Amino acid sequence: MLTKSRLAYRICTPLDVIPGGFTFNSYLVADDEPLLFHTGYRKLFPVILEAIRNVLPVEKLRWIGGSHFEGDEYGALNDFLAAAPEATPFGAEIGVLTSLNDFAARPAHGFRDGEEFSIGSRRMKWLYTPHVPHGWDCGILFDLSTETLLCGDLFTQPGAKMEAVTEWEVLTASEGMRGMMDYYAHATSTSAILERLAELRPSMLACQHGSAYRGDGAALIRELATTIESGNAKLSEQPRVVTA
Ligand SMILES: [Fe+2]
Ligand SMILES: [Fe+2]
Repeated sequence: MLTKSRLAYRICTPLDVIPGGFTFNSYLVADDEPLLFHTGYRKLFPVILEAIRNVLPVEKLRWIGGSHFEGDEYGALNDFLAAAPEATPFGAEIGVLTSLNDFAARPAHGFRDGEEFSIGSRRMKWLYTPHVPHGWDCGILFDLSTETLLCGDLFTQPGAKMEAVTEWEVLTASEGMRGMMDYYAHATSTSAILERLAELRPSMLACQHGSAYRGDGAALIRELATTIESGNAKLSEQPRVVTA
């Protein structure tokens, strides 16, 4: 059984960036080597810092990373690196090459696809998911010990007042978001990458935006893949526009 000091915490900040609001989640995995997944925007640093301090001294952080290099994933990285001198920034190998080692105040660790590492009682696995949902450097972290997929921008749900964890499917809401903002790269490898994630059989999908989903993660990921595929099939049926 995990002790209270070894729980994962969802730090949720709602912002008024779209009508109806939108949430930004950082996940703090408290273990022997505490890990923060997503720093939040630079301007959110004081808010996230205070939330972390409710759980553990920020200087104890050992790993600070995110799914892909954008402001909401890494914006406050250097503020956190200053506050946590023993923490190592991390991301995908290609993310370290393209952005992290330029941006971060200290050398970053780039995880290989499939690389596993221990943070104490938990074992984590990095999965490289290029362009899914977006970003060449995109990757996802799987907590093998609790079957939690820290799934970044997958299943992004709009709204400001979101439960921390829901057992209702989150696909309808995230498809609404995808209809509103086309935030998926139109990559040919999307289905294959989603199938790899489904094969992990996660029991929790820890989304960066919206509620975390507890349930049959594999089934929901496969439903997402089918939905994307059927949308793509419809698009390819449309007649091409020819201009003279
Ligand atoms: Fe993103
Ligand atoms: Fe995001």
